[in-house]
Amino acid sequence: MHTALIGLQWGDEGKGKLIDCLSNSFDGVCRYQGGANAGHTIIFKGNKISLHLIPGGIFHPDKVCIIGNGTVIDIKQLEREIKELRKMSIEFDDRLFISKRAHIIQPEHFITENKIKKEIGTTGRGIGPAYADKSTRKGIRMGDIFSVKYLKDRGTSKDFIETLLRFREDYGHFITDTVELIHRFSEEKKKILFEGAQGVMLDIDFGTYPFVTSSNPSPGGILSGTGTSPFSISRIIGVAKTYTTRVGNGPFPSEMNQKMQERIREKGREYGATTGRPRKCGWMDLVALKYAIQITGATELALSKIDTLDGMHQVKIVKEYQLDGKISDRFPSEVWKFKDIKPIYTSLPGWNNTRGIHKKKELPKKALEYINYIEDFVGIEASMISNGQKRGDLIIG
Ligand code: IMO
Ligand code: MG
Repeated sequence: MHTALIGLQWGDEGKGKLIDCLSNSFDGVCRYQGGANAGHTIIFKGNKISLHLIPGGIFHPDKVCIIGNGTVIDIKQLEREIKELRKMSIEFDDRLFISKRAHIIQPEHFITENKIKKEIGTTGRGIGPAYADKSTRKGIRMGDIFSVKYLKDRGTSKDFIETLLRFREDYGHFITDTVELIHRFSEEKKKILFEGAQGVMLDIDFGTYPFVTSSNPSPGGILSGTGTSPFSISRIIGVAKTYTTRVGNGPFPSEMNQKMQERIREKGREYGATTGRPRKCGWMDLVALKYAIQITGATELALSKIDTLDGMHQVKIVKEYQLDGKISDRFPSEVWKFKDIKPIYTSLPGWNNTRGIHKKKELPKKALEYINYIEDFVGIEASMISNGQKRGDLIIG
């Protein structure tokens, strides 16, 4: 049976590190949605790298890595990543697979995006326009680069056909029918880790629309983005940072005051891995988290970056929203309601240091109380807690 790892907030929950750490227990890792808007940071042999398209399992020599049909692919970025990994002497010619059905981001998509970029605060990676063309049936897919006639018939420009042919020559062997591959894996009882990009609050259906991305990080995206059976997934790990961050525009109810944001941003290195933008920082928002857990059906929690909260006198948590004089524990679906929302906080005492700890029960008492508060509120347990950037900085169980 397979497992999914899905961000429960507005992205940047620390998914990259967890994928890298968990990869050992799986036979393969598979991206199912999004594109190079993702930035999954991994520390490998002391070097920090951000993967945007290639799954985080790539650093493990025997793991198969799949880029599923639900993704949108910027071939230039993919090539950059392939080259960067090869420079690090990582070999993957026989274990990286790209879906024939994945859509290709075309040069016009970047141009179109520039017109909408400011309003939503997108990453500028052509994501929205590529998914729009997919929906209006104007897209071209990875498998199409094997027929120049077809590309011409679809109106692909001469220059871009040439770019695609160069890509095909060097990297065409990675392109395959990943649906078949995934089903073969399932039949052979091999285990896949589905790697979510972005997070549920950026989901096109369930997020803070229109301030969202253009795909479904939520579990439906795994089914439509890989072709796996709904019955093939038995475990869903929901990842949340122990506080909250957001890049780009849109509602962010638990945003901290500027001074606290600066403190957290510096300590937690909260700058976008894709665009370098400073991330807005907020307290843990349990109204949003509970909603995200409902949407994902997460069976367990992974809480990241607890060490960023070390040394605080107190930590705050949003447990309800006040709207129109009423207290509510529901996350509104209408974006225009958020300007009137007043988050209701509770404060818990802080703790000194969580670094270097490897067992949950050895955490400082107040840190454990903070985690227990979250677990009790959302009704699932934190099976993993990260307390640093390195592979080993992880508490399991
Ligand atoms: P990872 O996988 C954080 C945000 C953008 C913008 C909105 C739409 O690293 O968690 P898009 O370029 O997708 O059309 O932008 O979504 N966004 C992310 N924020 N982490 C990400 O990915 C994101 N991918 C997109 O900032 O608000
Ligand atoms: Mg990111």
